[in-house]
Amino acid sequence: MIAGLQQGANVSSLPPFPEGWFFIATRAAVQKAGLIQRTWMGDEIVIWADPVGQICIARSVCPHLGSDLGPEAGAKVVGGRLVCPFHGFEFETSGQCVATPSGAPARSANLDILEVREIEGLIFGWRGLGGRPSQWQLPDVPGAGDDWTDLQIRTIRFAGHPQETSENSVDIAHLSYIHGYHNVTSDAPVLIDGPRLESRFGFSTTRRIAKLSRLTLHVSAVAHVVGLGYSFVEFQEHSIGIDAQLWVLATPVDGTLIDMSIVSRMRTLREPKRFIAGLNFLPQRMRAPIINKFIADFQIRDVQQDEVIWSRKHYVPRPRLVHTDGEIMKYRAYCAQFYADGPRCDSSRP
Ligand code: FES
Ligand SMILES: [Fe+2]
Repeated sequence: MIAGLQQGANVSSLPPFPEGWFFIATRAAVQKAGLIQRTWMGDEIVIWADPVGQICIARSVCPHLGSDLGPEAGAKVVGGRLVCPFHGFEFETSGQCVATPSGAPARSANLDILEVREIEGLIFGWRGLGGRPSQWQLPDVPGAGDDWTDLQIRTIRFAGHPQETSENSVDIAHLSYIHGYHNVTSDAPVLIDGPRLESRFGFSTTRRIAKLSRLTLHVSAVAHVVGLGYSFVEFQEHSIGIDAQLWVLATPVDGTLIDMSIVSRMRTLREPKRFIAGLNFLPQRMRAPIINKFIADFQIRDVQQDEVIWSRKHYVPRPRLVHTDGEIMKYRAYCAQFYADGPRCDSSRP
């Protein structure tokens, strides 16, 4: 073994926790569990909601004498307040201590809370360089009417870095080589506006759907990358008329692992131009959930194919590129804004 050479993501020279908004949990999961604890961006955090729906994300350390505030330590949410398991201080979702067992609130005892952003029931926390407040917001997404499915969400954990996973948005070449897409096209130059990056591309892919039929899908996609934890992709499929939305949310856990959540939903098929064997007997409203599951399945399959590479790869600051690679270095120059000193990359090279 070459001296100093270690396995993949462990030798990444990228700082592990870039600035930005990073996914934590869905509102539905928070409300179902009552209190959730996560290792998130190298910190232990807790998240809960009060009866009017206000969400609080806080570091999992009590300001009184330092108890952990997770459910395993015995913390509970009672009447919308987080109750510390050590001496019973009670905290509102503002982070303020509003009651103690002796009756007097400890006014100076505040939880260390994070800024919260919610999009379509997905809860994000802000992680600022040096603890600074949010410098930008995640944009709203086009609303979904009654003809859209509910969100499907799945999360997988592996060794990786969100800059490396988001790089796939501009790495057009890998779409055909790993994922087997054909007719892959870059449909416009990559656009960058502050923390936002937009990549437009197209591809065709042939898939077996619900073990019933083989379909060739012709897809136009617009990926909106907003920081390194958030990618929102709009798909339009032109053969049978699928409109789908996909979120790819990469959240660093502890400096080595990331949680990648794949969230999808789709609109009920527009006028199908083609017969879909096996699905034609289903009522229209049932086709969308089946195809949404199909889309989620094939996105997970894609991520699993990528994960084999991501979890073993090295960050190469000066990649030796070819002309079919897409705008990798433009993407990396964009990424530099999310680090205190910038990642070690050389955007001056072709
Ligand atoms: S450590 Fe939390 S109430 Fe004392
Ligand atoms: Fe990929």
